[in-house]
Amino acid sequence: MVDNKSLPIGVFDSGVGGLTVAKEIMRNLPNEKIVYFADSARIPYGSKSKDTVLGFARQITNFLRTKEVKAIVIACNTASAFAFEELEKELDIPVVGVVLPGARAAARQTRNKKVGVIGTIGTVNSKLYARFIQNEDSEIEVYGKACPLFVPLVEESMATDSVTLTMAKRYLQPLMEMNIDTLVLGCTHYPLLKETIQSVVGENVSLVNPAYETVLVLKKVLEEQGLLSESKEKPFHEFYVSDAPESFNEAAKLILDLEIDNTKKINIESY
Ligand code: DGL
Repeated sequence: MVDNKSLPIGVFDSGVGGLTVAKEIMRNLPNEKIVYFADSARIPYGSKSKDTVLGFARQITNFLRTKEVKAIVIACNTASAFAFEELEKELDIPVVGVVLPGARAAARQTRNKKVGVIGTIGTVNSKLYARFIQNEDSEIEVYGKACPLFVPLVEESMATDSVTLTMAKRYLQPLMEMNIDTLVLGCTHYPLLKETIQSVVGENVSLVNPAYETVLVLKKVLEEQGLLSESKEKPFHEFYVSDAPESFNEAAKLILDLEIDNTKKINIESY
């Protein structure tokens, strides 16, 4: 009989950005095997409706269940904002999204009770970060700002380009005017812009990386449910995409610093 502890963790995102979460899992839970799915055929999620993203998320979890995952991590902020509450109700395995852990960390970190949240249009308009932050402390004021150009700038390897700095100044200025002291990087790609963002907001604003916080929550959930892997062997992670496995492998090399050659393309619409 397969022991549940040795089953993999399913992680998904609209693309490669969620590898920032997979990387934190690999660093903090090195014995856990990951099955990662990138919805490269249907990215971006950030400009799509809740119904569409929820439908995608259901197909992906159906696929991940065929891999017998013991838990699911929604690495995508937009999918977490639109699908976490539904998937958590529908599935009988633990589901961890990135929004709740990021929101809790922001509520803990702010001193002046003014928090900025940046993300895709979908994430910011969902106001889920604001809701979760204010559940922790109703006095905290939350200011959201969608930064839709950040994702393509990262995808085009322009994280340190002057164009990105110009856009960061434009996007972040209104939040600075609100005197925020904490800023949530509410999108998978934004930790890759950390230096640029920090240089614009200054050292007095603390940045919250939900990817990091999510893995701490994941570890706690697995511990509580007796699901932490006890394997001493180095896990062999599996990667799946809905399109263009080669591009995924190239991006994965940059983010994970790992050579990946086992990425498989699947027809996600059939799940
Ligand atoms: N992964 C998405 C997120 O974290 C960003 C990319 C997209 O729009 O699909 O919100």
